[in-house]
Amino acid sequence: ETGMFTYDPGFTSTGSCDSEITYIDGDEGILLHRGYAIDELAEKSNFLEVCYLLLHGELPNAAQEAEFEHTITRHTMVHEQIHHFYRGFRRDAHPMAVLCGVTGALSAFYHDSTDVHDPRQREVASHRLIAKLPTLAAMAYKYSIGQPFIYPRNDLSFAENFLHMTFAVPAEEYKINPVMARAMDRILILHADHEQNASTSTVRLAGSSGANPFACIAAGIASLWGPAHGGANEAVLKMLGEIGSKDRVGEFVKKAKDKDDPFRLMGFGHRVYKNYDPRAKVMRATCYEVLEELGVKDPLLDLAMALEKIALEDEYFVERKLYPNVDFYSGIILKAMGFPTSMFTVLFAVARTVGWIAQWTEMIGDPHQKIGRPRQLFTGHTSREFVPLNERG
Ligand code: SDX
Repeated sequence: ETGMFTYDPGFTSTGSCDSEITYIDGDEGILLHRGYAIDELAEKSNFLEVCYLLLHGELPNAAQEAEFEHTITRHTMVHEQIHHFYRGFRRDAHPMAVLCGVTGALSAFYHDSTDVHDPRQREVASHRLIAKLPTLAAMAYKYSIGQPFIYPRNDLSFAENFLHMTFAVPAEEYKINPVMARAMDRILILHADHEQNASTSTVRLAGSSGANPFACIAAGIASLWGPAHGGANEAVLKMLGEIGSKDRVGEFVKKAKDKDDPFRLMGFGHRVYKNYDPRAKVMRATCYEVLEELGVKDPLLDLAMALEKIALEDEYFVERKLYPNVDFYSGIILKAMGFPTSMFTVLFAVARTVGWIAQWTEMIGDPHQKIGRPRQLFTGHTSREFVPLNERG
C-alpha cells in the first residue's frame, strides 16, 4: 500500500456535489445538459439559449430568450479603466495569464455584484461574467498582436461579436462569415459545461468559502490552463506539429505507451469517458464543415485522422478505453479559423464560464452549503522529539 491518497475532486465535502445540471455516462459516451443531449443542442440550439438552459434548468420561450439576449448583450462592454490594466502586461504574455489576471481583478470594478448571499447581485455577476469574458479574451488577443481593442457591438450575436472583436480592424469593415459564426457558436456549446471536472470543482471549492464570483472564475481559469485539462487543445496542435507526417504516427503511439516516457497522446483519454467523447464526434464533423467552407486542405486533419485510426486499433488504447476527447479536433478548427494556439484554451474558458457560473450558483444557492474541506489519508511521521542543531547528523 503506498498510502498515497488520490484527491478526488468529487469528494470536496462542499456538502452538495450532487447536481441537476449535467449528466455524463462515461461508458456509453452520453452527455446531457438538463436532460438534453449535447449533439442535439449543438445541432438545433445556440450558445445563449444553452446558457439560459444551464442557468435556469429549462429552454427559454421566445420572450425569455429575447430578454436574456438583451441583458447579456448590454453587459459586453468592460469598464474603460480595464484597458489600462492590459498595458501592464508584456505583449508576449500568454493570453491565459492575462485572462486569469484581469478576470480576478473584475471584482475591483464591479463590487456592486460581489455579495454572494444576495440573489440579485449573484444574477448580475453571472450576466457580467458570461458577457464580458469574450470581450476580455478578444482584448488579450488584440494586445498580444499590437492591434487596437475592438469594442463589442449590440447588433451582433454572441459568436459574431466575439469573432468581430477578435478579427476586425478599424481600417476596414470586417465581414462575418456565417459558417464561421455557426462553427464558433457550436464550439462554445460543446465546451459549456461538463459536471465536476477539475476547473469546475476548483470554482465550487473556491466559492464554498464565500469568495466573490469573479475571483472564483479566475480560479477556474487557472485550473483549466493545465495541459491535462483545458490546455490539451493547444497541446494537441503542438503534438501534431512534432509528429509532422503520417509515417511518424507509429513512433509517437509507441512513445505514448512507454511507461518510462511522460509523453501522452494529447486529446486522447478522459477521467470519465471510457467511450468516444460525444463532443469529439460533433467537433470532427464541424472540422470538415469549416475546412470545406474555407477551402482549406489542412494536412493536420489528415494527420489527426491517421493518428485516431491507429490508436483506436491499438491494443494498449483499446484495453484502456482511450478515445479522442473534445480537445482532439477543436484546435484544428480554431487554427483554420485564424486563432493562434495560445488562444485555444482562452476560448475554452470563454465557453466554460457559463458552466462554472451555473455550478457555482447551484452550490452557493444551497441553504445547506458548507465550506469545502477535502480530507486526507496522513502518511507522514508520527509525533517525535525536537533535535537540536548540534545533535543532527
Ligand atoms: C478535458 O474532466 C473533464 O470533464 C475534462 C474535460 C472537460 O470538459 O472539462 O472533458 C476537458 O480536460 C479533456 C481531457 C484533455 N486532456 C488531454 O487530452 C491530455 C491527455 N489525456 C491524458 O492526460 C489523460 O487521459 C487524462 C488526464 C485526461 C486522464 O488521465 P487518467 O485519469 O490517468 O486516465 P486513466 O485513469 O483513464 O488512464 C488509464 C491508463 C493509464 O495507464 P495505466 O496506468 O493503466 O498503465 O491509460 C493511460 C494512463 O497512463 N493513459 C494514456 C493516456 N490517457 C490515459 N496513455 C497514453 N496517452 C493518453 N492520452
